[in-house]
Amino acid sequence: MKNIFEAPFVREMCATTANMYRLGWDERNGGNISYLLDEKEVAEYLDLSKVIREIPTGFDAKALIGKIFIVTGTGKYFKNVEKDPETNLGIIRIKGDGTTAELLWGYKDGGKFTSELPAHLMSHMARLKVDPENRVVMHSHPTNTLAMNYVHELDEKKITHTLWEMCTECIVVFPDGVGVLPWMLCGTNSIGEATAKKMEEFRLVIWGMHGIYGAGKTMDETFGLIETVEKAAQIYMLTAHLPRINTIKDEEMVALAELFGVKYRKDFLNL
Ligand code: 13P
Ligand code: ZN
Repeated sequence: MKNIFEAPFVREMCATTANMYRLGWDERNGGNISYLLDEKEVAEYLDLSKVIREIPTGFDAKALIGKIFIVTGTGKYFKNVEKDPETNLGIIRIKGDGTTAELLWGYKDGGKFTSELPAHLMSHMARLKVDPENRVVMHSHPTNTLAMNYVHELDEKKITHTLWEMCTECIVVFPDGVGVLPWMLCGTNSIGEATAKKMEEFRLVIWGMHGIYGAGKTMDETFGLIETVEKAAQIYMLTAHLPRINTIKDEEMVALAELFGVKYRKDFLNL
């Protein structure tokens, strides 16, 4: 059996949480990540017949039965994941009933998966229907994205359009735009269901006055989506109170989208 602490998926979780912490996106226990793993790869590191304990999830994830995820723990600080992954992370498999998580590794102090597991697993189910290669769901509280929520209308078309205007790369990186939910009670099945519904259409979903969700094929892609929104939100927050003299025009965004061959939300432009 190979050493789990050297597994690429554990290393990636450590590196990503550390990055997010250092960027100031994930204060205290803010943020959570879930990463769908390849069973064969996990079997090189863990005996998959050994279940440490079973944890009820409180919702139905039948479409994910047998699937294995590495997930950040609830109440755990991103700044601590790298130095103690076995306490701050867990590897779970969805049991045959669809409503129980079998713990295969981690949560060493008796802890459990993030309180946002409904939003994560429901988003995985929604994204896998659209893109069978989706692997990562990431939630974070990036500072400028959050600040923008207080001074910009929480409207999908308007917020996407503003973000696209802020950096030339935006329409190319997230041509599908950004979904927006109003403020909702977090950690519930309801916010999970609402997030998953948006994830049928978007890879990025803003939780009003809370943070953002991203979904993608790889850790880099998912991180990059949130990072690009956060950069655009930063430019917005640096300029929103100043007279606007220049802007990227809608026709220029179309030219970008066409050059890079991306399918973009035409209805989010004002042409
Ligand atoms: P957890 O500590 O349960 O992951 O919650 C953090 C968070 O960001 C809630 O939305
Ligand atoms: Zn949060």
